[in-house]
Amino acid sequence: MVTYEQIFENNKKWVAEMTARDADFFEKLSRDQTPDYLYIGCSDSRVPANEIMGLEPGDVFVHRNVANLVNNTDLNVMSVINFAVKHLDVKHIIVCGHYDCGGVKAAMIPKDMGILNPWLRTIRDVYRMHATELDAITDERLRYNRLVELNVKEQAINVIKTASVQKHYKKKGFPIVHGWVFDLHTGILIDLEINFKSILKDIQKIYNLTGIDSEHNEDGE
Ligand code: CO
Repeated sequence: MVTYEQIFENNKKWVAEMTARDADFFEKLSRDQTPDYLYIGCSDSRVPANEIMGLEPGDVFVHRNVANLVNNTDLNVMSVINFAVKHLDVKHIIVCGHYDCGGVKAAMIPKDMGILNPWLRTIRDVYRMHATELDAITDERLRYNRLVELNVKEQAINVIKTASVQKHYKKKGFPIVHGWVFDLHTGILIDLEINFKSILKDIQKIYNLTGIDSEHNEDGE
Protein backbone atom coordinates (compact mmCIF):
# COMPACT_ATOMS: atom_id res chain seq x y z
CA MET A 1 0.00 0.00 0.00
CA VAL A 2 1.13 3.54 -0.76
CA THR A 3 1.17 5.40 2.55
CA TYR A 4 -0.72 8.64 3.02
CA GLU A 5 2.55 10.55 3.56
CA GLN A 6 4.07 9.01 0.44
CA ILE A 7 1.45 10.70 -1.71
CA PHE A 8 2.80 14.14 -0.77
CA GLU A 9 6.34 12.97 -1.50
CA ASN A 10 5.12 11.72 -4.87
CA ASN A 11 3.50 15.08 -5.49
CA LYS A 12 6.77 16.95 -4.87
CA LYS A 13 8.58 14.61 -7.25
CA TRP A 14 5.91 15.11 -9.88
CA VAL A 15 6.15 18.92 -9.56
CA ALA A 16 9.94 18.66 -9.97
CA GLU A 17 9.59 16.43 -13.03
CA MET A 18 7.03 18.63 -14.74
CA THR A 19 9.03 21.78 -14.01
CA ALA A 20 12.22 20.14 -15.31
CA ARG A 21 10.42 19.37 -18.57
CA ASP A 22 8.94 22.85 -18.87
CA ALA A 23 9.84 25.60 -16.40
CA ASP A 24 6.57 27.43 -17.16
CA PHE A 25 4.38 24.35 -16.90
CA PHE A 26 2.36 25.43 -13.86
CA GLU A 27 2.29 29.05 -14.95
CA LYS A 28 0.64 27.95 -18.21
CA LEU A 29 -1.62 25.46 -16.42
CA SER A 30 -2.97 28.10 -14.07
CA ARG A 31 -4.00 30.48 -16.87
CA ASP A 32 -7.03 28.66 -18.25
CA GLN A 33 -8.29 25.31 -19.50
CA THR A 34 -9.09 24.69 -23.15
CA PRO A 35 -9.55 20.92 -23.40
CA ASP A 36 -10.83 19.50 -26.70
CA TYR A 37 -12.14 16.36 -25.05
CA LEU A 38 -14.80 15.48 -22.50
CA TYR A 39 -14.27 11.99 -21.11
CA ILE A 40 -17.09 10.22 -19.26
CA GLY A 41 -15.75 7.00 -17.76
CA CYS A 42 -16.03 4.53 -14.91
CA SER A 43 -14.77 5.38 -11.41
CA ASP A 44 -12.78 2.11 -11.44
CA SER A 45 -9.26 2.83 -10.16
CA ARG A 46 -7.73 0.77 -12.95
CA VAL A 47 -8.99 3.05 -15.71
CA PRO A 48 -7.26 6.44 -15.31
CA ALA A 49 -8.53 8.77 -18.04
CA ASN A 50 -5.45 10.87 -18.79
CA GLU A 51 -2.98 7.98 -18.68
CA ILE A 52 -4.80 5.64 -21.05
CA MET A 53 -5.26 8.50 -23.53
CA GLY A 54 -1.67 9.71 -23.17
CA LEU A 55 -2.92 13.20 -22.32
CA GLU A 56 -1.46 15.88 -20.06
CA PRO A 57 -3.23 17.99 -17.42
CA GLY A 58 -5.39 20.51 -19.28
CA ASP A 59 -6.12 18.21 -22.23
CA VAL A 60 -9.28 16.45 -21.09
CA PHE A 61 -12.31 17.37 -18.99
CA VAL A 62 -13.23 14.31 -16.95
CA HIS A 63 -16.37 12.92 -15.35
CA ARG A 64 -16.38 9.48 -13.76
CA ASN A 65 -19.04 7.45 -11.98
CA VAL A 66 -19.86 3.79 -11.40
CA ALA A 67 -20.24 2.12 -14.81
CA ASN A 68 -19.98 5.38 -16.80
CA LEU A 69 -23.70 6.17 -16.78
CA VAL A 70 -25.38 9.20 -18.33
CA ASN A 71 -28.70 9.48 -16.50
CA ASN A 72 -30.86 12.39 -17.56
CA THR A 73 -31.84 13.18 -13.95
CA ASP A 74 -28.23 13.12 -12.73
CA LEU A 75 -27.47 16.82 -12.22
CA ASN A 76 -23.80 16.03 -11.91
CA VAL A 77 -23.22 14.45 -15.32
CA MET A 78 -25.73 16.78 -16.99
CA SER A 79 -23.91 19.84 -15.60
CA VAL A 80 -20.57 18.45 -16.76
CA ILE A 81 -21.87 17.91 -20.30
CA ASN A 82 -23.53 21.33 -20.40
CA PHE A 83 -20.42 23.12 -19.15
CA ALA A 84 -18.05 21.18 -21.42
CA VAL A 85 -20.16 21.88 -24.51
CA LYS A 86 -21.28 25.45 -23.90
CA HIS A 87 -18.29 26.92 -22.13
CA LEU A 88 -15.30 24.74 -22.97
CA ASP A 89 -16.40 24.15 -26.56
CA VAL A 90 -15.13 20.56 -26.52
CA LYS A 91 -14.80 18.95 -29.94
CA HIS A 92 -15.31 15.36 -28.82
CA ILE A 93 -17.29 13.66 -26.06
CA ILE A 94 -16.21 10.15 -25.19
CA VAL A 95 -18.15 7.62 -23.15
CA CYS A 96 -15.57 5.03 -22.12
CA GLY A 97 -16.51 1.74 -20.48
CA HIS A 98 -14.23 -1.14 -19.62
CA TYR A 99 -14.39 -4.93 -19.61
CA ASP A 100 -14.50 -6.45 -16.10
CA CYS A 101 -16.63 -3.53 -14.91
CA GLY A 102 -17.91 -4.33 -11.41
CA GLY A 103 -20.98 -2.11 -11.86
CA VAL A 104 -22.04 -3.95 -15.01
CA LYS A 105 -21.32 -7.31 -13.37
CA ALA A 106 -23.48 -6.40 -10.35
CA ALA A 107 -26.33 -5.35 -12.64
CA MET A 108 -26.34 -8.79 -14.26
CA ILE A 109 -27.18 -10.44 -10.94
CA PRO A 110 -30.80 -10.02 -9.83
CA LYS A 111 -30.23 -9.08 -6.21
CA ASP A 112 -31.16 -6.23 -3.84
CA MET A 113 -28.11 -3.97 -3.74
CA GLY A 114 -29.59 -1.28 -1.49
CA ILE A 115 -28.79 2.29 -2.52
CA LEU A 116 -27.13 0.95 -5.67
CA ASN A 117 -30.49 -0.35 -6.97
CA PRO A 118 -31.59 2.82 -8.80
CA TRP A 119 -28.09 3.26 -10.22
CA LEU A 120 -27.82 -0.32 -11.46
CA ARG A 121 -31.36 -0.12 -12.83
CA THR A 122 -30.04 1.89 -15.77
CA ILE A 123 -27.73 -0.97 -16.73
CA ARG A 124 -30.47 -3.54 -16.14
CA ASP A 125 -32.63 -1.49 -18.53
CA VAL A 126 -29.85 -1.67 -21.12
CA TYR A 127 -29.90 -5.46 -20.70
CA ARG A 128 -33.68 -5.51 -21.15
CA MET A 129 -33.50 -3.42 -24.32
CA HIS A 130 -30.96 -5.82 -25.80
CA ALA A 131 -32.15 -9.03 -24.13
CA THR A 132 -32.62 -10.95 -27.38
CA GLU A 133 -29.02 -10.38 -28.45
CA LEU A 134 -27.56 -10.88 -24.97
CA ASP A 135 -29.54 -14.01 -24.11
CA ALA A 136 -28.33 -15.62 -27.34
CA ILE A 137 -24.73 -15.42 -26.08
CA THR A 138 -24.21 -18.62 -24.10
CA ASP A 139 -20.72 -17.85 -22.80
CA GLU A 140 -21.26 -15.77 -19.67
CA ARG A 141 -18.01 -13.86 -20.02
CA LEU A 142 -18.78 -12.89 -23.63
CA ARG A 143 -22.30 -11.87 -22.62
CA TYR A 144 -20.84 -9.70 -19.86
CA ASN A 145 -18.38 -8.10 -22.31
CA ARG A 146 -21.17 -7.41 -24.77
CA LEU A 147 -23.29 -5.75 -22.07
CA VAL A 148 -20.32 -3.48 -21.29
CA GLU A 149 -20.26 -2.45 -24.97
CA LEU A 150 -24.03 -2.02 -25.25
CA ASN A 151 -24.05 0.06 -22.07
CA VAL A 152 -21.42 2.39 -23.56
CA LYS A 153 -23.49 2.73 -26.71
CA GLU A 154 -26.69 3.51 -24.79
CA GLN A 155 -24.93 6.07 -22.60
CA ALA A 156 -23.44 7.70 -25.71
CA ILE A 157 -26.99 7.93 -27.10
CA ASN A 158 -28.03 9.56 -23.81
CA VAL A 159 -25.33 12.20 -24.40
CA ILE A 160 -26.67 12.77 -27.92
CA LYS A 161 -30.19 13.26 -26.53
CA THR A 162 -29.12 16.36 -24.60
CA ALA A 163 -30.20 19.79 -25.84
CA SER A 164 -26.73 21.30 -25.39
CA VAL A 165 -25.06 18.70 -27.64
CA GLN A 166 -27.78 18.92 -30.30
CA LYS A 167 -27.85 22.72 -30.39
CA HIS A 168 -24.08 23.12 -30.38
CA TYR A 169 -23.64 20.52 -33.11
CA LYS A 170 -26.28 22.21 -35.26
CA LYS A 171 -24.51 25.54 -34.90
CA LYS A 172 -20.84 24.55 -35.01
CA GLY A 173 -20.57 20.97 -36.31
CA PHE A 174 -19.25 19.60 -33.02
CA PRO A 175 -19.02 17.96 -30.50
CA ILE A 176 -18.90 14.47 -31.96
CA VAL A 177 -19.88 11.72 -29.51
CA HIS A 178 -17.86 8.50 -29.33
CA GLY A 179 -18.10 5.18 -27.49
CA TRP A 180 -14.97 3.36 -26.33
CA VAL A 181 -14.13 0.30 -24.29
CA PHE A 182 -10.88 -0.11 -22.38
CA ASP A 183 -9.53 -3.66 -22.19
CA LEU A 184 -7.82 -4.13 -18.82
CA HIS A 185 -6.04 -7.27 -20.03
CA THR A 186 -4.20 -5.53 -22.86
CA GLY A 187 -4.40 -1.83 -22.03
CA ILE A 188 -5.90 -1.25 -25.47
CA LEU A 189 -8.67 1.29 -26.12
CA ILE A 190 -11.30 0.00 -28.53
CA ASP A 191 -13.35 2.49 -30.54
CA LEU A 192 -16.85 1.01 -30.89
CA GLU A 193 -17.25 3.33 -33.89
CA ILE A 194 -20.77 4.34 -33.04
CA ASN A 195 -22.23 6.38 -35.88
CA PHE A 196 -22.88 9.79 -34.31
CA LYS A 197 -24.57 11.34 -37.34
CA SER A 198 -26.91 8.44 -37.95
CA ILE A 199 -27.87 8.17 -34.25
CA LEU A 200 -28.53 11.91 -34.15
CA LYS A 201 -30.73 11.59 -37.23
CA ASP A 202 -32.57 8.51 -35.92
CA ILE A 203 -33.53 10.12 -32.61
CA GLN A 204 -34.86 13.36 -34.15
CA LYS A 205 -38.48 12.25 -34.16
CA ILE A 206 -38.84 12.45 -30.37
CA TYR A 207 -35.56 13.80 -29.06
CA ASN A 208 -34.98 16.85 -31.27
CA LEU A 209 -34.41 19.62 -28.73
CA THR A 210 -32.86 22.19 -31.05
CA GLY A 211 -36.13 24.05 -31.50
CA ILE A 212 -35.69 23.64 -35.24
CA ASP A 213 -37.65 21.18 -37.37
CA SER A 214 -34.99 18.72 -38.52
CA GLU A 215 -36.95 17.80 -41.68
CA HIS A 216 -36.37 21.24 -43.14
CA ASN A 217 -32.77 21.55 -42.15
CA GLU A 218 -30.99 18.77 -43.96
CA ASP A 219 -27.91 20.95 -44.30
CA GLY A 220 -27.63 21.37 -40.58
CA GLU A 221 -28.62 25.01 -40.42
CO1 CO B 1 -16.34 -0.10 -14.05
